[in-house]
Amino acid sequence: MPSLQSLVRANSLMTEAGPMIPEPFPAPASTAAPPKVPGPAPAAKSPAASAAAGGRGANRLQAIARGEKVEPALHRQVFGEKAVLEIDNFQLWYGQKKALHEITMPVPVGKVTALIGPSGCGKTTLLRCVNRMNDLIDSVRIAGDMRLNGDSIYAPGVDVIELRKRMGMVFQKPNPFPMSIFENVVYSLRIDGIRDRNLLNEVCERSLRGAALWDEVKDRLHDSALALSGGQQQRLCIARAIAAEPEVLLLDEPCSALDPIATGKVEDLIQELKGEYSILIVTHNMQQASRISDYTAFMYLGRLMEYGPTAKIFTNPLLPETNDYVTGRFG
Ligand SMILES: Nc1ncnc2c1ncn2[C@@H]1O[C@H](COP(=O)(O)OP(=O)(O)OP(=O)(O)O)[C@@H](O)[C@H]1O
Ligand SMILES: [Mg+2]
Repeated sequence: MPSLQSLVRANSLMTEAGPMIPEPFPAPASTAAPPKVPGPAPAAKSPAASAAAGGRGANRLQAIARGEKVEPALHRQVFGEKAVLEIDNFQLWYGQKKALHEITMPVPVGKVTALIGPSGCGKTTLLRCVNRMNDLIDSVRIAGDMRLNGDSIYAPGVDVIELRKRMGMVFQKPNPFPMSIFENVVYSLRIDGIRDRNLLNEVCERSLRGAALWDEVKDRLHDSALALSGGQQQRLCIARAIAAEPEVLLLDEPCSALDPIATGKVEDLIQELKGEYSILIVTHNMQQASRISDYTAFMYLGRLMEYGPTAKIFTNPLLPETNDYVTGRFG
């Protein structure tokens, strides 16, 4: 039986990631210094063809691989939204190795924002930094800041436990705690010392309904959560996360261990939660990103490459590299 401390550590909810710019770049709504945007590129006939032929796109990837700084292409629309989360010139090193390079991006409130990019590009690292899970790794050093609804996440003296209560995190592999379905859902309330049975029942039902799981489990709330199917376990983890009414929901490849039917249910759920919740989701599934997200951020080797409305990223991105990635030419 795992200790309470290890359970707590295991889940962030409890305490535990040369294009042409079409219009002038506006000042961001946040207090962060406006990021620089790349200058106009010589018009490429076909972005994908350009990169594939070793053109400007390929040069940019090579430049990044050499460790050179390449400015991201940021669509102005992302700065027109109110931000729930502002990532401000954020950098991270694992020992000597820099894994995140000067990332500046607002995450809009009440929307779904997808983080995409090849394996190892830093998506999970970035997501984990939002709730300071990387504090648990000794070799990690960071610079820059993030703000949750205006409150610094990395300022000295931040109460990390209180901060994490404001966020929910769901991992790639469902991690129900070895307790009943009911106790899983109301876990955050228990941690806060809430014993009012009516309140616990109410939150349990509301969260399970919110996670589209109520009808499947309402008659066995006191059975072990470990007896649920993988897809049910993942929706239970989402119910547990939303029971705490988080200001932002962080989802790291929540469907990668699920079959297509369970994936469809979780995708429907994400669509339903949108508006009430602000969601930052990592996914390797391009169809999923295009189906469920409003905004998409493309990362490469620890850098933010392009960030904008999902429809633009998938149909008319500013960078040839983005086009190559979303069309499966690399990564
Ligand atoms: N605890 C760690 N210590 C040292 N290096 C790490 C650690 N965690 C991640 N890294 C490195 O940081 C980089 C980014 O890793 P990360 O897990 O964030 O990538 P990712 O984009 O989530 O990849 P994937 O799509 O495979 O999940 C990788 O080079 C990885 O090897
Ligand atoms: Mg990852």
